[in-house]
Amino acid sequence: MLTALVSVLFRPIRAGIAVFMAIAALFGGIFGFEKAEISHKKDGCLASFAVISDTHLTEANGRREVLEIGLEDMSKAKDKLDALVICGDITDHGYDSMWESFTLAMSRYDTSANDIMVIGNHDTWGSDDVAVTKANFIKYNKLATGRDISEVYYSTEINGYPAIILGSEGDHTYATVSDEQIEWFADEMEKASRTDKPVFIFFHQPINDTHGLPYTWEMKKDDEPGTGGIGDASDRILEIIKKYDNVFYISGHIHAGFSTEDDKTVYSSVERYDGYTLINSPCYMYSDFLRGGNFLNGTGYVVEVYENEVIFRARNFISGIWQPKYDETIELI
Ligand SMILES: [Fe+2]
Repeated sequence: MLTALVSVLFRPIRAGIAVFMAIAALFGGIFGFEKAEISHKKDGCLASFAVISDTHLTEANGRREVLEIGLEDMSKAKDKLDALVICGDITDHGYDSMWESFTLAMSRYDTSANDIMVIGNHDTWGSDDVAVTKANFIKYNKLATGRDISEVYYSTEINGYPAIILGSEGDHTYATVSDEQIEWFADEMEKASRTDKPVFIFFHQPINDTHGLPYTWEMKKDDEPGTGGIGDASDRILEIIKKYDNVFYISGHIHAGFSTEDDKTVYSSVERYDGYTLINSPCYMYSDFLRGGNFLNGTGYVVEVYENEVIFRARNFISGIWQPKYDETIELI
């Protein structure tokens, strides 16, 4: 009965999306959209992965269906993705029912050989006991992706490229990062640097005072420095990143849309520094247009690694549209 009701309610969403896709296909060029399936931008791609963030799944309101449309888009990629990363706030509140909703969605689509979950602050709010929160993240990681982990931080490879996943061990909006995690991170970076390949770090919270923070957190002029970022551990993490070249730090959390430095807004999705680049993925489920950028939901990046560069390609996974205005190409050193 409930399933039937959701299905009926979901029909208008699908219909709306179909209309939007048809319009985009007709007039996409005018608006800077390109309707096309996922495939490599050019020859010589060595690895590619999708990154989305802040899916905020609940068991209701059609959110699972909205995620599933994006997963379907990824599963139909002409050039198969090597990974899918969901960069935190996977659930809206970390309850079992929400994790189950996510697990169900993931079970229905073959998006990539390496689906990667990152813990977000909302994912830690299912219990007052952080041991329960951690156990749930580990449990649903296994169920949704098949991965065995023992901590909320772990490492993997994306078609041979090092990927390091960091995560909060507490239940605050900022991140709680233990000394053990910092030491582990330093070791992982050292190991990764020996591959001489670009390194991808995923952490839900951005580095403090980047991407327009603290202002972009609640649009308050007098927010404390560090608000909306990692918190106390930010400086130590950044110091480790700065030791190496070709490092990409990918976050979510802010709930902005795509924006470039050319847009002249306080928020920019991508910030380039010597040796490292910070990328803030938009909120997949509901971007807040006040925070800057293009606020359509369903957005994220397809990241393509080439011999001499990494390309972040802005995509709306719901409508199957590239948004090349927000693409960023970073030359490797
Ligand atoms: Fe979020």
